[in-house]
Amino acid sequence: MPVFVHFLAISCSPQRTFAPPNIQSSIVKYMKIAVAKGDGIGPEIMDSVLHIFQANQVPLEYEFVEMGKWVFDKGYSNGMTPEAQQTIENLSILFKGPMETPKGKGVKSVNVTARKTWNTYANKRAFQTLHGVDTVFSKAGIPIDLTIVRENIEDTYGGIEHMLTHDVALSRRFITRPGSLQVIKYAFEMASKNGARRITCGHKANIMKITDGLFLEVFYEVAKEYPHLKADDVIVDDLCMKLVSRPNEFDVVVLTNLQGDIVSDLCAGLIGGLGFAPSANIGDHICIFEAVHGTAPDIAGKNIANPTALLLSGIAMLRHLGLMENAAVIENALLYTLESGVHTGDFGDRSTQSVNTTQFADAIIANLGKQPAHLARPILPNKPITPTSFKLAENPLIMSKELENEIIVGVDMFIESSEQPLAVAEKCLLHTGDLFKLITIANRGTQVWPKGSSFTNLVNQYSCRFESIGDAAVTQTDIMELYKRLMKDFKICSTEILNMWGDKKAYSLAQGQ
Ligand code: NAI
Repeated sequence: MPVFVHFLAISCSPQRTFAPPNIQSSIVKYMKIAVAKGDGIGPEIMDSVLHIFQANQVPLEYEFVEMGKWVFDKGYSNGMTPEAQQTIENLSILFKGPMETPKGKGVKSVNVTARKTWNTYANKRAFQTLHGVDTVFSKAGIPIDLTIVRENIEDTYGGIEHMLTHDVALSRRFITRPGSLQVIKYAFEMASKNGARRITCGHKANIMKITDGLFLEVFYEVAKEYPHLKADDVIVDDLCMKLVSRPNEFDVVVLTNLQGDIVSDLCAGLIGGLGFAPSANIGDHICIFEAVHGTAPDIAGKNIANPTALLLSGIAMLRHLGLMENAAVIENALLYTLESGVHTGDFGDRSTQSVNTTQFADAIIANLGKQPAHLARPILPNKPITPTSFKLAENPLIMSKELENEIIVGVDMFIESSEQPLAVAEKCLLHTGDLFKLITIANRGTQVWPKGSSFTNLVNQYSCRFESIGDAAVTQTDIMELYKRLMKDFKICSTEILNMWGDKKAYSLAQGQ
């Protein structure tokens, strides 16, 4: 029996409270979180942020875990030790520095592995004008205050890729209804809670009608539950143009994974660069807070990196944990420091001397308690979230209601061939049997048989669509028999079953079909 998961649960809960030695007050409750310093500039910026937290007496205790490049090098293929995984699953919160993915070793990014393993389905990235960080928009007096919510698990980030022939690579792109629902629901809930005026879905559903079409369909389904929010959609290329010309028109934007990755880096550029872009990876049980930027190997070990993005991620984590007062005091000190012109080498007034990472953190510490002239955060009391214990006995299966009227009506056979389309068709037609007819042959998604153009360049891999005669239901065994017949003439690289739901085709047409 599938377990239906409620999509509304959007917060993760730290497990326990701790009262470590050396605490300042007997009423302070310490929550414990996992911290991974990361690679490259990671340790430098993490130390600076934790130093600021310590100066503000943030009631957190840290358990440092082993993750990153050096863990790959020790032979752990997922970039983290089993102990690190256990600690993070126990504590529910991971504050992490950037981590390097070793190149050319066939290993996957530990950053992506962490997000996927713990189902942190929403990546929230907030971009706001920071006074003291000059940009084209700040100079033009155009304020930016927008949040990108990027789907964090699916899409091409599964990295499920194959060479179909020596010339043809294929990447599988998964967009699922439950996965889309989780992230879109989170985006609406967050937008509603924060009093957003508009929520926009960025997509490419005009081209990817089934995958992005599903994401967009779910967006408008969820929108019905939030009638007070203005919900609309923009095609992603148009969205990029609009974001760089009129960013102040947008408020919350939700996108699929790859498009969200690109658009959020674009937005980082709008507010001054990667050094100012924080991110929160939100799941129902485990949340990960990290900067958007990477390990910056070109400046690692020099103590010149800008810790702001990681600090902003840490501030978002404090708010997530209900540590509102600490978050506001630290953010005000950061804003005050930026306003006063203190800057690391990557931003600010080049005619004034830059400070290093440690000096930047020290300046923030010296400004704790000060109010910035712009965007001062109200000081609300801390309300640490009630710790609850979490243990999952089995993997949650997230699925929507099963369809009753699904039938198989055909198959796409992806075959290797360097022959002309007509020759491929003639061979296919020998093997259709009594149940199937050959409908179309496409090359790189463009129809080349029965109609086509001799101007279409070919590669050595075709997709041949066989549909059942009269759209009658066929079985997987029927498809296996067709497969065996075709094998006599072709190497079959891959297959996709063609399903019908009622009178709706659950597959796309080839271009020109
Ligand atoms: P990157 O973000 O590390 O660096 C791009 C440019 O921005 C560099 O010139 C760097 O010096 C500068 N930069 C980045 N952060 C900065 C900061 N805080 N202060 C001042 N300058 C800063 O991107 P790159 O070079 O593409 O990736 C390097 C490594 O980081 C790769 O191994 C990549 O896989 C990894 N990476 C890790 C991420 C994560 O842990 N979430 C995210 C992105 C990349």
